[in-house]
Amino acid sequence: MTLLATDDRNAAEIAFWNGLGGQCWLNRQQAQDALLAPVAEVLLDRAAARVGEIVLDIGCGCGATSIALARRVAPGGRVLGIDVSAPMLERARQLAPQGLAVDFALADATVYPFEPGRADLLFSRFGVMFFADPVESFANMRRGLRSGARVVFACWREPCENPWLLLPLQEAYRHVPRLPDVGSEDPGPFSFAAEHRVHGILEPAGFRAIELEPIDLSLDLANGRGLDAAVDAALGIGPASRALDGQPTALRAAAGESIRAALAKCQVGDTVPLPGALWIVTATNP
Ligand SMILES: C[S@@+](CC[C@H](N)C(=O)[O-])C[C@H]1O[C@@H](n2cnc3c(N)ncnc32)[C@H](O)[C@@H]1O
Repeated sequence: MTLLATDDRNAAEIAFWNGLGGQCWLNRQQAQDALLAPVAEVLLDRAAARVGEIVLDIGCGCGATSIALARRVAPGGRVLGIDVSAPMLERARQLAPQGLAVDFALADATVYPFEPGRADLLFSRFGVMFFADPVESFANMRRGLRSGARVVFACWREPCENPWLLLPLQEAYRHVPRLPDVGSEDPGPFSFAAEHRVHGILEPAGFRAIELEPIDLSLDLANGRGLDAAVDAALGIGPASRALDGQPTALRAAAGESIRAALAKCQVGDTVPLPGALWIVTATNP
């Protein structure tokens, strides 16, 4: 699998998702899909994909939502999952049941030559916040949509509203240096947190009827498997794992202990539920 044309400005994100980022998601793919299942549920509900529809799943990663969408549009429909991460797409291809109408393209959504005016639905679970030029990227994706097509995607709200990601990071920072500061609009998980920014991307890209629905969820870091599983999750993915990457073993161990103590305070039986806050963004292609 070769990644064909890319936007050079996306190079750092493409390297991350083919390196540490992609590896973290691969290592935890089953657990991550279970953790984010409540997000998939609400997104799929809002998307209301119908039999026979053509769907684009942007930044599809290991393919969970592409597969779920393909089941909804069968028979007659088709899903194209697009992602820049070769290892994650390889997993998606392995997981897709034979005969299901789902294809995967190793491609950069900013420049991918979508079949013009074809798709009924542009969908994404947390896969659209990593573009260097989001207006250009959404304008490119819009070319693949028919008139009247729907857009439905999930993106995170502010870090302070997402303790499931922030709490482990704050505990890690007691022991390891802070990650380089990232501007609020720089590519990354929180770059679509501000409502006005999402409007400021989708409107000039040509979309209309743009709405942001706030969704507050309780995300069980443990997936019902106790405190150890929650600590593994906190260390294995997200900004805490990025901050701890490459740090000396002793510091990683100390950070792990701090994270464990903080998560223990949130434990309820075998679960460790923490608040997560996201937008479900919907729009239409006029
Ligand atoms: C947070 S992960 C979400 C993965 C998947 N949607 C899920 O919910 O499991 C973000 C995904 O966006 C992909 N991505 C980042 N930049 C991209 C780009 N320019 N074009 C296509 N995919 C991209 C990454 O490779 C990664 O798989």
